[in-house]
Amino acid sequence: MAEDFNKDGMANTLIVAIGICLVCSIVVAGSAVGLRPLQMANKELDRKQNILRAAGMLGADATVAEDGRGVEDLFAEFEVRAVSLDTGVYMDDVDTALYDPIKAAKQDDASRELGPQEDRATLGRRENVSLVYLRRRDGALDKVVIPVRGYGLWGTLFGYLALEGDLNTVAGIGFYEHKETPGLGGEVDNTGWKAGWSGTRVFTADGTPSINLVKTRSPETSSAAAHEVDALSGATLTSRGIENLINFWTGELGFGPYLQRLKFESAQAQINPRRER
Ligand SMILES: Cc1cc2nc3c(=O)[nH]c(=O)nc-3n(C[C@H](O)[C@H](O)[C@H](O)COP(=O)(O)O)c2cc1C
Repeated sequence: MAEDFNKDGMANTLIVAIGICLVCSIVVAGSAVGLRPLQMANKELDRKQNILRAAGMLGADATVAEDGRGVEDLFAEFEVRAVSLDTGVYMDDVDTALYDPIKAAKQDDASRELGPQEDRATLGRRENVSLVYLRRRDGALDKVVIPVRGYGLWGTLFGYLALEGDLNTVAGIGFYEHKETPGLGGEVDNTGWKAGWSGTRVFTADGTPSINLVKTRSPETSSAAAHEVDALSGATLTSRGIENLINFWTGELGFGPYLQRLKFESAQAQINPRRER
């Protein structure tokens, strides 16, 4: 029998090749499944870092604060709430740890279609419920971070806008995903450019969202100056996209109703501290 065995024969070659393929596919599939929780954890950590950076609680490239506190510790200062974008009311039946507004925007029953006049951020659809991140200090509202997104030149930019407790002054901004060209629209990641946002006012006196990205600044004494941010040089289309997406998400179809309600509630809480929240 042993003499009949030909290790270089067709059958043997096939058995070895199939065996190797099987082992490799098990290793690849096993790694993909096994690493999934780690990937999810990294994605979640990245999301938290971006929110903290927008709020100015974590340096641009830092993973710990100056006082040595880590991301989880810092993020625990936020209260995460789900909000109906139509009414501005909290949706406490939504599990904020699992809810994904961007996924919801793709589902017909969890989002609404935006008409051409409405869709200034080129989203197509907008989720009915989104998430907000609130930080209070000594009982008073200190920061509110909202997720923002919209089309630039090459694709959708995804980021966070942080407002101070007055719900009008920008505390910071950051985009964690975009397709803009490095050196042109990609300068949205430039730390100096992002720093230029802080102190800018989002709303005019009558509550209209009014961020303008400009090539030439208005005189500092003019009312327009408070709403201006430097446009990105050589990237007019990205700049226009960012202007549109910020004005969309702070407007009536975005977090406008929520921010108005929160402003009213904060004012009420200052008059009567026991009525807070
Ligand atoms: C390869 C290439 C990449 C570009 N990337 C961007 C970009 O990311 N964002 C942008 O607004 N414009 C980009 N542009 C430039 C636009 O086509 C357009 O010229 C520019 O927005 C005009 O801006 P300006 O008026 O500030 O010069 C790119 C152009 C080329 C050729």
